[in-house]
Amino acid sequence: MDTTADDGAGTVRVEIDDIQSGALRPRPVPYEGKYLFLRVDDRRAGRALLRRLLPLTAVGLPSTDRSQDAWVAVAFTYAGLRALGVPQESLDSFPQAFREGMAARAELIGDVGESAPAHWEAPFGTGDVHIALSALSSDAAQLDKELERVRVAFEGTPGVQVIWQQEVRQLPTGRTTFGFRDGISHPNIEGVGLPASNTQEAPIKAGEFILGYPDETGNLPPMPTPEVLGRNGTYAAVRKAHTDVAAWRRFLRANSSSAEEEELLAAKMVGRWPSGAPLALAPEHDDPELAADPHRVNNFLYRENDDRGFRCPAGAHIRRANPRDSTIIGDARMHRLIRRGTTYGPPLPEGVLEDDGADRGLVGVFLGAHLERQFEFIRAEWINDGNFIGYPGEKDAVAGHHGGTDTLTIPEKPVRRRLQNLPDFVVTRGGEYCFVPGLRALRWLAELED
Ligand code: HEM
Repeated sequence: MDTTADDGAGTVRVEIDDIQSGALRPRPVPYEGKYLFLRVDDRRAGRALLRRLLPLTAVGLPSTDRSQDAWVAVAFTYAGLRALGVPQESLDSFPQAFREGMAARAELIGDVGESAPAHWEAPFGTGDVHIALSALSSDAAQLDKELERVRVAFEGTPGVQVIWQQEVRQLPTGRTTFGFRDGISHPNIEGVGLPASNTQEAPIKAGEFILGYPDETGNLPPMPTPEVLGRNGTYAAVRKAHTDVAAWRRFLRANSSSAEEEELLAAKMVGRWPSGAPLALAPEHDDPELAADPHRVNNFLYRENDDRGFRCPAGAHIRRANPRDSTIIGDARMHRLIRRGTTYGPPLPEGVLEDDGADRGLVGVFLGAHLERQFEFIRAEWINDGNFIGYPGEKDAVAGHHGGTDTLTIPEKPVRRRLQNLPDFVVTRGGEYCFVPGLRALRWLAELED
């Protein structure tokens, strides 16, 4: 199936059935899943495995039959493409950020201190991660069936090793470890045929997310060669982020005088209430009814009603990560991402303020056609700096690297509130840049010769 959109200059046909599902379609709710990292020691074995994974790799839009709603996605690091024997000329045609890999870009994107690659969990950043596989489903039995098919695909390929595995699942609360619902806001992509969650936002060109189509500049994004490899592919920044939920709760407690104040402060830091209701539409208290309405929960802009941030502070996570139409330095449309966040680890029991030592957090997957101007820009300029909103040096309240000395400004009348000494709430455990090829490209990789 191809979907089309008239972009004014002509019709854009998006080849949905050649694009991996994990890129365009929102993950199921609820969900269970597993991420696997593979190392390819023998390129022929790697290609043989790809041939067996091809029929399992999901493409296109969601199935209407929920019992079939499980899928496997396959992505490659630069080292992985090299290990499979992709010709040098083709390897050289990939963008610099991808070739260098996330660990080499750590300082630029704010992975410093405890989040620096020197402290990452193996095998992140070692060069050993070649292929990243993900399997997700809304149904545990369906996921098991899918994982069994993946296991069978591995049989008889001793030249490929599984070197890392991570189970993910939605917590019983339906929220992230910090207690907030995630996975609400998705860009409205022109020509892919998915409903817009924000009808006030003009659709974003498909080329911002998928290679081979015009992007917001009107040009085709730089695409690796040969064309069969690049077309319908995208890049994914994959990250494992540990969340220090006890530090989060202690910070809220120390800076509030009641449970209601704690809830409001947390919402000001995130930009949404725990249910997902946005402060821009529900500035005073949570509104679960609004949050449950898919037509309203993401349907807002900032400039007309809240340009100065009295409802949702400019420093709140969702407003930094996507300032929409707010007055900022720059243009938010040039820096959008598709996000596929999933939760790992047990929840910290309600009310507990001391860390229990358990590892819990988020495996985040951030997709787009331009690693540098999307994921890296957002990390460097919007999450780990504040120039664009007039607070130089101030960082994202939730996801920024604070190191215990940062401040957070919350606009209030008559005078703004300034919180001091923010600790780190999130520590990067590791990350990799991956290329997520289209289906034809996957076949091309599987059939490389020599
Ligand atoms: C562990 C760290 C993080 C946590 C706990 C977290 C949590 C959240 C939550 C609860 C939301 C609101 C749900 C939604 O609007 O869909 C959200 C939105 C978002 N986050 Fe994060 N996030 C984290 C890291 C990041 C990073 C590293 C980036 C980008 C590089 C990012 C980019 C975004 C974007 C773009 C949105 C949507 C904003 C919008 O369109 O309004 N997040 N995040």
